[in-house]
Amino acid sequence: VVGYYNGQYVNPSEAAIAIDERGHEFGDGIYEVIRVYGGQPFLLEWHIERLQNSLNAIRITSPYDANGYRELIQNLLEKSGETEASIYLQITRGSAVRNHLFPAAEITPNVSAVVRPVPDKGEQTPGKLLMQPDERWANVYIKTLNLLPNIIAKQAAHDAGADEALLVRDGKMIESASSNLWFVRDGELITAPTDRYILPGITRRFVLELANELGIPVREEKLSVTELSSIDAIFITGTLSEIFAIDTVLSHPDLPVSTPLQDVAPHPIVVTPDT
Ligand code: PDD
Repeated sequence: VVGYYNGQYVNPSEAAIAIDERGHEFGDGIYEVIRVYGGQPFLLEWHIERLQNSLNAIRITSPYDANGYRELIQNLLEKSGETEASIYLQITRGSAVRNHLFPAAEITPNVSAVVRPVPDKGEQTPGKLLMQPDERWANVYIKTLNLLPNIIAKQAAHDAGADEALLVRDGKMIESASSNLWFVRDGELITAPTDRYILPGITRRFVLELANELGIPVREEKLSVTELSSIDAIFITGTLSEIFAIDTVLSHPDLPVSTPLQDVAPHPIVVTPDT
C-alpha cells in the first residue's frame, strides 16, 4: 500500500502527522475516494470538480489546480502498481496551534493520499438496509472528514446484520451512510435531489447519465418512509459500493412505517453498455 503526504511517498501506517494538524484536531478538511479499474481512475474529472467544490465550501484555497491533482494521482498509481484499487485523497487546512479560528498566518494545506487494492467482490447477492435517523449536520453536500454520524449509523446497520444504513431525515429517505439511495417504482428511477442534505455522488451522477442514455425516466425527489410499500426495487450507489441491489429494509422503532416492511421484491436493473 503506497501513501503520499505533502510531496513525499510514505508508508501510510507509519507516516507521522503533527498533533496540531487541523484535520486531526478539528476534522477541518475534505476528502475524495476514487475507484481505479484496469489501471484507470474512473470518473476522475468529476471527482476533481467535487473536491474543488468541497474546498471552496470550507474556504480552503486548493493547493493544486486540476492538472496537479491528475498528476498526483497518476504518479501515485504508477508508484503503487495497483490496477484494481481505491484512491483516498484528503486535504486539510494545514497545521497550526489549536484555535477554532482559521490561522491568522498563511498556512499550507496538508495533502495526503493512499492507494489501496480493492479485492474482486465476485457475484453479489442483494443486501439489506437498516433505517437510522439521519443525525448529520445541514451541509452534507460537502465531503468533509466529519463522518461520526455516518460511522455510528453504518455500525448499527452492521450490528443488525444489514449492509448499510438508510438515513431518514424528517420522515424522508435521504441516502445511505456511504452511498446514495435509489428506488424503482412503475418503471421510474427515483433518487433524492442534490440539495445540501445529500452528498452529490459521482456514481449517482453516472447512473443519471446512463438512465438518460437508455431513456429510463428519473425523478429527483425524496420519498417518505411511508412510501416504501409502493416501491418495486431499491439499490444504492457509491464509489466503493458500486451499484448494489437491496432486497430488504429493516425498520427502526423511532421511524414508523405505515405497513410492516416485507422483503422488497428484487427487480434487477440490467445495464448493458454498448461498447
Ligand atoms: N462515500 N453518500 C455518502 C454519505 C458518501 O459518503 C458517499 C461516498 C456517497 C457516494 O458517493 P460517490 O458515488 O461519489 O462515491 C454518497 C465514500 C466512497 C467513502 O466515504 O468511502
